[in-house]
Amino acid sequence: MARSLNDVQANVLVLGALGRLARQGLLDQPAPVDDPVAAACQRLLIATGLLAPDPVRPNESLAAVLPPGVPLAALGGYVAATLQLATALSAGATTWSPDEPEVVRFFGQANGPAVNHILAQLLTDVPGFPDRLDRPGAAFLDVGAGAAGISIGLCRRHPELAAVGLDINPLSVRVARSAVATAGLNDRIEVREQSVTDVYEVGAYDLLWVPQPFLPPAVLAAALPRLRRSARPGAVLVMGSPRHPATRCRARRPTSSTCCWAGAAWPRPRRPTC
Ligand SMILES: C[S@@+](CC[C@H](N)C(=O)[O-])C[C@H]1O[C@@H](n2cnc3c(N)ncnc32)[C@H](O)[C@@H]1O
Repeated sequence: MARSLNDVQANVLVLGALGRLARQGLLDQPAPVDDPVAAACQRLLIATGLLAPDPVRPNESLAAVLPPGVPLAALGGYVAATLQLATALSAGATTWSPDEPEVVRFFGQANGPAVNHILAQLLTDVPGFPDRLDRPGAAFLDVGAGAAGISIGLCRRHPELAAVGLDINPLSVRVARSAVATAGLNDRIEVREQSVTDVYEVGAYDLLWVPQPFLPPAVLAAALPRLRRSARPGAVLVMGSPRHPATRCRARRPTSSTCCWAGAAWPRPRRPTC
């Protein structure tokens, strides 16, 4: 915890050093002798404990930011996202969307596997699921698709599933379409530049993912009746809810991240099915 403004500034510089080393691929190997700045960044991160020395490698908490298999370079996206968020906050913005492809891709790489893990855990408790996603015609709605990390992971796990990803950020839509094409899933995942408030389908989806922390309350309130109408009978709507960073408990009041990312704290939903 920072005790003075100097500490805050030092922490921001640590974040900068982390981003630089991630982009240079130097979080798990020694800095080249002809790059004194990279060497200084490594010494800084070793002093903070984020990197271990001999051999240079991330500590457990740093490595845990990324799911297994995701390259350490993706931490560059994490740093860029955090710095962009701070800039938006200080400029008085009330909503935020990534404005660099690297940041969009970071969310896809980190958020996609994490949300897929949550969905797999949740759906084992819901009658008819997860088998329902393996039936021909099964459909998933991915609200705030970002880089389409969630849709890609889910469609890989359920070969009969088709997905529609919605995002209002044109950059995210471009990155998502490219990720879907690279994954060879063009015929099963449609990415639309469309707000969740404009969902028009009726009885179309078996599973709906709604990232509440990224949606302002008025947007969520306008979207929920449309989402309900777009769900098939017995469908499941899963709404991500923020955890308080200090307590890891479900937030009852806005936290720093929910304030910055537009969402508000919402009470725990009583029933998971539509
Ligand atoms: C953190 S990102 C989601 C990351 C994504 N799940 C992935 O795997 O890459 C949240 C997204 O919600 C999008 N968003 C915000 N408001 C929206 C709205 N009204 N309708 C649809 N998407 C929205 C933002 O543009 C942003 O891309």
